[in-house]
Amino acid sequence: MIQVYFLPSLVSADQLAGRTVVVIDVLRATTTIAAALDSGAREVLPLEHVAETRQQAEKLGPHALTGGERRGMKIEGFDLGNSPTEYTRERVAGKSICFTTTNGTRAMQVCRQAQTILLGAFVNFDSLSRRLPDDGNWDVVCAGTDGQITGEDVLLAGALVADFQAKAEQGKASPPVLNDQATLAADLWLGRKLQSLKHADLTQLLKNTSGGRNLIEIGQESDIAWAAQLNHLSVTPQLDCQTWKIIAARSSSP
Ligand code: MLT
Repeated sequence: MIQVYFLPSLVSADQLAGRTVVVIDVLRATTTIAAALDSGAREVLPLEHVAETRQQAEKLGPHALTGGERRGMKIEGFDLGNSPTEYTRERVAGKSICFTTTNGTRAMQVCRQAQTILLGAFVNFDSLSRRLPDDGNWDVVCAGTDGQITGEDVLLAGALVADFQAKAEQGKASPPVLNDQATLAADLWLGRKLQSLKHADLTQLLKNTSGGRNLIEIGQESDIAWAAQLNHLSVTPQLDCQTWKIIAARSSSP
């Protein structure tokens, strides 16, 4: 069964135990983590609180950087904010990034009993969808914003479900059973004929979501167009449940 949850509060850790789960925070945590790993960061450590993020970086020493946001802005004294454009090869290659964001890193917490945790964004759509189990047994947890459902996360969830359904129709995967949130998300994506959309269309659509509006308000609108670059990156971030570190998943198949 494919189960989509529009918010982390709509699912418990128990329900995700042993499952393959995709965590989505399109604007911007999962997009930024994909950018960091694509630029050669050694690992990203998702942490809940600012103080523990600083402490962890101090403990790791000179190869560690602090990154993340509160209210969308770089945290005082941190090396990096939460804009994917900051995570360049020059800045992050070989580094361990101690990372905290308001919603994205928290959404990961509910997946702590999962078997496999993958991070999704539009920028790594293809590489991620190739890793989803062909038997149609996987879940999606959308981060939302401050307990509210956000359109950008639901759109990506819908794109993943619709893509899997298309594969099943071609006989390349088992026909999936969907929970109602998965059906709603896929209907949203397909209903707007977004499967053939262009970069400008997706950018515009993301601008009209609550995550998009928040970024425009704080003057970080250019990150929306960055996050809308479908398949710009070939990396799939994977959060190891034992070490609680995010690394680039190795091969192109699960
Ligand atoms: C979050 O985790 O809340 C977001 O990534 C916020 C942001 O866009 O910086």
